[in-house]
Amino acid sequence: MRLPYFDLSDKVAIISGGATGIGKGIASCLAEAGANVVIAARRLEKCQETCKEIEKETGVRTLACHCDVTKAKEIEDLVQEVIKIFGQVDILVNNSGIGGSEKPILKMNEGDWDDVLDTNLKSVFLLSRAVAKRMIERNKGGKIINVASIGGVLGWSNMSAYCSSKGGCIQLTRVMALEWVRYNIQVNAILPGYIETPMNKELFFATEAGKRVIENNIPMKRLGQIEELKGVAILLASQASSFMTGSAVVVDGGQTVW
Ligand code: NAI
Repeated sequence: MRLPYFDLSDKVAIISGGATGIGKGIASCLAEAGANVVIAARRLEKCQETCKEIEKETGVRTLACHCDVTKAKEIEDLVQEVIKIFGQVDILVNNSGIGGSEKPILKMNEGDWDDVLDTNLKSVFLLSRAVAKRMIERNKGGKIINVASIGGVLGWSNMSAYCSSKGGCIQLTRVMALEWVRYNIQVNAILPGYIETPMNKELFFATEAGKRVIENNIPMKRLGQIEELKGVAILLASQASSFMTGSAVVVDGGQTVW
């Protein structure tokens, strides 16, 4: 490889929610850089499909695992399975997330709040803790990448749980970075702005409100593409970011500048 500091050959990466959208894009690029990838999400078939695609395109080893990231037991089973098959975890990408139903706070119930916080924040604590324990035992360091959002630094009406969970994710990134610096585990967050995915395409392009958001809120006047997160993901997963920890890297077409 001509850029050895980006080389991920022989590394093992777990990507939660890696069967679709941004997670799939990150899983693919880590594989392109040489990493073996584990895709963990609730729909095993979807994980298997993505694994097959990545194997075919890159030739790395892959593993599809069922895992609901809100459940500590399923996370423990996932990490044990990965250790059994690969013997190590070098990179963890906490990508699973949900937006939750858009409601004003006064109309939200406890369940609405818990679903989002459990999926977007508690899962980062549970999965990072389980993986960091194995990284510390192995004594070879590691990389943890948390997919937060610019919603963690901006306030959006009707998205209280989402914004709180992503703000919490950025803070958790900083604390994990401090606590695990002595083990050579670097923990960083990516804060994407609006990225085009099959899930939000309709909203942004088929509604006037969606088009207005692009026109008025994003200096680049377009949505980001999944491919545009790949460079940052490889940077944070590789030796190239060896002096970065606790960072929150914004990729948003300038949205948070305004
Ligand atoms: P997506 O819906 O395609 O991906 C979310 C993934 O999380 C799915 O694969 C889903 O199966 C998984 N997931 C949800 N709940 C889970 C659970 N309990 N256990 C295991 N997996 C679970 O959506 P997208 O857009 O790719 O989102 C990925 C991440 O990027 C999320 O954390 C999201 O908040 C974040 N993000 C997305 C932005 C966008 O514009 N698309 C902008 C900023 C952040």
